[in-house]
Amino acid sequence: MIKTAIKVAITGTGAALPETRLTNQDLEKMVDTTDEWIITRTGIRERRLLEKGRSNLDLAEAAAVMALENAGLKGAELDLILVATVTPDHLFPSTACLLQARLGAHHAAAFDLSAGCSGFIYALSVGYQFILSGACRRVLVVGAEVLSRITDWEDRATCVLFGDGAGAVVLQPVREEDRGLLCFELGADGTGAGLLALPAGGSACPASAETIKNRQHFIRMNGNEVFKFAVRVVPDTLARLMEQGGVSAAQLDYLFLHQANLRIIESARKRLNLPPERVPVHIDRYGNMSSASIPVLLHEEAAAGRLKRGHLLAAVAFGAGLTWGGMLMRW
Ligand code: UT7
Repeated sequence: MIKTAIKVAITGTGAALPETRLTNQDLEKMVDTTDEWIITRTGIRERRLLEKGRSNLDLAEAAAVMALENAGLKGAELDLILVATVTPDHLFPSTACLLQARLGAHHAAAFDLSAGCSGFIYALSVGYQFILSGACRRVLVVGAEVLSRITDWEDRATCVLFGDGAGAVVLQPVREEDRGLLCFELGADGTGAGLLALPAGGSACPASAETIKNRQHFIRMNGNEVFKFAVRVVPDTLARLMEQGGVSAAQLDYLFLHQANLRIIESARKRLNLPPERVPVHIDRYGNMSSASIPVLLHEEAAAGRLKRGHLLAAVAFGAGLTWGGMLMRW
């Protein structure tokens, strides 16, 4: 754990979810699946889909505006904008730069960060380091995804899982001793890169009539192997985080887990012996929103007034790369 006089805290949160809902019953009419299979295997009941004509940038902007408002800041006061996403508007320029223009954040540097579903935790750790180093004072961190646009709606193994949404937080240095980010645990295992990927559209396999015919512009996932990886990496990361932070599971007021599968969440919760109210869930309402899942959870708990100053929170995410990331903080 970095011992430092500077404390870095989340001073504002925001979220944006599209209005359009796609229920399991809707999916029953699209592919060979059932509401019962989806609920028992994943915990998902419905997910949100971004309307035609809107993009990742629109969701990122709505979440960012809310987070800035809650932090009492204007875009022009930001020093850095980080957008974690696997579904940027374009390969380049980055969504972060487009967002910088929308927010009028003339003084902010801006870049996207790609670390799959762990992207938000990775981006949070980057923003934290920029503030610790003294290079920045006000950092906006966004997790925004439009997974519906890279979902194969003919593949029942994946199309029931994903949803669209965005969450954002503002990071700032604070004076209070008993508040702020405490430590991070980040990791990667590129030998598992092929387990969860978007095969075409990058420079290794540019778009062609062939890649479109072969449906290579959609998510490909080996669900079983990713599941096994997640069940291993979540408790390992949590154990290392708690060791680094010198805290025990019983001291955690909140555990925020990446919302990929309710069975993965429940297995971690039961292993740590935490009551359900300390491990919030929105996968039933939104499905897997990749890098947006944890910031949306944070925003929902903060907006409901359940997060109190001094609460001890842990968050862990895992995903494509393969990557994993965890953080411990006092609210
Ligand atoms: O956020 C990024 C990280 N991603 C994840 O963490 C995802 C991790 N993986 C998972 O959550 C699970 O592996 C899934 C939910 C994706 C799949 O659950 P599973 O219990 O591992 O199912 P399975 O893939 O082993 O499939 C079991 C059966 C198969 O049929 P057979 O071969 O046993 O006859 C599948 O064909 O379920 C079938 N199946 C479906 N049936 C109805 C697969 N998808 C569906 C479906 N509806 N949508």
